[in-house]
Amino acid sequence: MANLVRTALCGLDGVLKYMKYSPCYLLAKRNFKPITTDLSQKSILITGGNSGIGLEAAVKLAKLGANVHIACRNESRGSAAIDEIVARANVSKEKVQMHMLDVSECKDVHKFATDFSKMLDDNNEKLYCLVNNAGGIINERRKNSHGYEMNFATNTLGMYILTKSLLSSNALSTGSRVVSTTSSSMMIVPCVTEDLYFEKGTFDKNGINAYAFACTQKRHQVVLTDVWAAQYPDIYFCTGHPGYCNTKAAKDTPFYTVPGEFIYNLGTSAIRSPEDSSDCIFFAAAADESELAASGTYYTDRKPAAKHYFGTQETDADRQKLVAILDEIYESTKE
Ligand SMILES: NC(=O)c1ccc[n+]([C@@H]2O[C@H](COP(=O)([O-])OP(=O)(O)OC[C@H]3O[C@@H](n4cnc5c(N)ncnc54)[C@H](OP(=O)(O)O)[C@@H]3O)[C@@H](O)[C@H]2O)c1
Repeated sequence: MANLVRTALCGLDGVLKYMKYSPCYLLAKRNFKPITTDLSQKSILITGGNSGIGLEAAVKLAKLGANVHIACRNESRGSAAIDEIVARANVSKEKVQMHMLDVSECKDVHKFATDFSKMLDDNNEKLYCLVNNAGGIINERRKNSHGYEMNFATNTLGMYILTKSLLSSNALSTGSRVVSTTSSSMMIVPCVTEDLYFEKGTFDKNGINAYAFACTQKRHQVVLTDVWAAQYPDIYFCTGHPGYCNTKAAKDTPFYTVPGEFIYNLGTSAIRSPEDSSDCIFFAAAADESELAASGTYYTDRKPAAKHYFGTQETDADRQKLVAILDEIYESTKE
C-alpha cells in the first residue's frame, strides 16, 4: 500500500514538475541564469556521452571550452557523437575524446580508470568533473562476465567502481566535482541491500518490474553520493534528476511499453527534449561554486530537492551495508 501511495506521489510530481510544460518547471526555468564559466583547461568525463542527455551536456560543456571525454561502449556510436559534439560546439577535434568503456563490466571499469588516471597524470592534469550518466533499464535476465545482474552492474556497480577508482588514484581531488544522473523514481524506494541481483524478481513483458528494480539502483546513486560527500569534503558530489525526457532510455520504461508506441509517440511532445534535460548535468558541472548547494545535494531544475518520500529514509546501517557489499565486489573484481 505504501508503495502504491509513493508511486502515485511520484506520478503527481511528474505532472507538476518533470514534464515539458509542468508548472513548477516553467517557473524554475524562468530563473535559470545563463552559465558562462570558462572551462578551458578543465577536463570532464561523461559516461554515456554519446547519446541523449549525456550527449547534449557534452555539447554545452564543450562550448564553454572544456576538454570533454566521453566514455562509450560502442565505437561507431561514439565516433558519430564526437563528430556531432565537435560540429555543434564548434571546437577542434582535440578538445573532444572518446574512450571505450562498458560500465557494466567491472574489470573494464577498473582498467579504464587506471589508464585514464595515468593519461591525466602524464598530461599533468586532474579530472575537474566526472559525470556518471550511463545507465538504463534492461528488461531481461543477463549477467556481466563476473556473474552480476546487468541492471545492478550498469547502474550501481559501474558508478561505484568508476568513482571509487578515480578517487583512489587522485584523478579526482580537491576542487573536483562528481555529478550523477539519477531519477526521481528513486523517491519511491528505500536503500535496498537485499536481493541486489533480482533473484526473487521476474522480468515481465512491459518492463514494470525491471523499472521498479532500476529505481533501487537510482536510490543507490543518491545514497553513495551522500556517503562520498561526507567522506571527501574537498570534492563536490551531487545527483540530478533530468525530468522526463525523450531519449532512447525512455523507450525502455513502462510509460512507453504499457500504452504502446502510438500513444507514447503522442505523449513525447509533452516530455522534455534531451537538450532541456541535460541542464541537470550542465548546471552541476559548470555553475559557479557560489550557485551550488551543499555537497551531496539532489537537484531538480537547479534547486535542492527532498531525497525521500515517507518511509524510504535509510539508516547509517543501510548505508554501511551497501558500501560493504560494493567494496567487496570492488576488491574482488580488480585484476
Ligand atoms: N530519459 C529520462 O526520462 C530519464 C529520467 C531519469 C533519469 N534518466 C537517466 O539519464 C541517464 C541518461 O539516459 P538518457 O535518457 O540520456 O538515455 P540514452 O539516450 O539511452 O543514454 C544512455 C547512455 O548510457 C549509455 N550506456 C548504457 N549502458 C551502458 C554501459 N553498460 N556502458 C556504457 N554506456 C552505457 C548508452 O550507450 P549506448 O548508446 O551504447 O546505448 C547511452 O550513451 C541514464 O542514467 C538514465 O537512467 C533518464
